[in-house]
Amino acid sequence: MVQYRTFHNRDPKRFLKLWHNSGLGPSAAEGFPCDILEYFVFSLPFFDPKGFFLATEGEEVLGICHASFPPVEDESRLDNTQGCISALMVHPDFRRQGIGRELVQRAEAYLAAAGATSIQLGAGLDRNGFYNGIYGGLQSSGFNVSSGPWHEFAESLGYAPATRTQILHRDLSSGRDPVSSRLIRHRRRLNLVITDRASEMSWWWHARFGQLDSLQFELRQRHDEDLVASGQIVGLDVFVPKWGIRAVGIQQVIVPEESRRHGYGLSLVLEICRRLREQSIQLIEAQVDEANPAALELFQTAGFECVELLSTWQRSL
Ligand SMILES: CC(C)(COP(=O)(O)OP(=O)(O)OC[C@H]1O[C@@H](n2cnc3c(N)ncnc32)[C@H](O)[C@@H]1OP(=O)(O)O)[C@@H](O)C(=O)NCCC(=O)NCCS
Repeated sequence: MVQYRTFHNRDPKRFLKLWHNSGLGPSAAEGFPCDILEYFVFSLPFFDPKGFFLATEGEEVLGICHASFPPVEDESRLDNTQGCISALMVHPDFRRQGIGRELVQRAEAYLAAAGATSIQLGAGLDRNGFYNGIYGGLQSSGFNVSSGPWHEFAESLGYAPATRTQILHRDLSSGRDPVSSRLIRHRRRLNLVITDRASEMSWWWHARFGQLDSLQFELRQRHDEDLVASGQIVGLDVFVPKWGIRAVGIQQVIVPEESRRHGYGLSLVLEICRRLREQSIQLIEAQVDEANPAALELFQTAGFECVELLSTWQRSL
């Protein structure tokens, strides 16, 4: 008989087993030990055992649903008026028995009691506090529609499609960088500055990426040191056993408003690719919201291709 309860301290090992037996598809890291779940989930300061729901039969965990909250706009604290389902999975032998539905309904009741007026199934880009670097690649921005009946499931629970985040990959071991006279001019006139300025990042950034290696890149004018583009890379070390190659994620590529449409963003991304290639990194990943055509175009021009989609669904309570 299936029973439902919230998290106990002895659950991480059982969750690890469920994770590896659930066929989570290309977006999920695999072959990692239990302490990875501690780093990326259970040790985070905002992990609430009362928001982590399990379906069990005896000692076996058949499914889990993890409810959480996104940050407020300035990323200084959590926003309890909005709820997220950060993770949801049911063992393949126990699907289509109503377990997923029951877990989500319990998570919804928990989120509503904490003050949430809407819920996002799959959290969304920059909104998931958990599983970053172990599900989705660089970020756990939604659920991968190619590895689960997410549309049907979400619709049956009254959720409507919300965001779609493209996972873009570039294989650094093959293909050539685009060339143009503008890019050549930029190489002559700009300096690339590399720092590890993690102290300038928000509390939310540290909670999600603080345990991964990261570097900050800045493109500055040679003559006056004016900043024209910045970005950041984060190591995707937990995916090494699954992908068999070294990969990094690139994020927060920002060009100041007054410097846009001059090709500085492209120059920065290509310069980062060049540096990573020299370090024998084989793959670089970016995640871009489909509603951001400028960023999509930039990465496509830099040779990135969409390999998967991470989707979310929303329901008002
Ligand atoms: C999505 C998932 C959680 C659904 O769990 P589940 O326990 O099988 O779902 P339920 O039995 O509660 O289904 C509820 C409703 O969803 C819909 N649904 C679920 N699975 C479906 C499928 N394979 N095809 C069509 N509709 C489906 C149905 O409407 C179903 O109601 P019904 O059975 O009365 O027709 C499960 O398929 C899963 O674990 N997939 C992989 C999860 C994953 O990749 N997680 C990674 C992110 S952390």
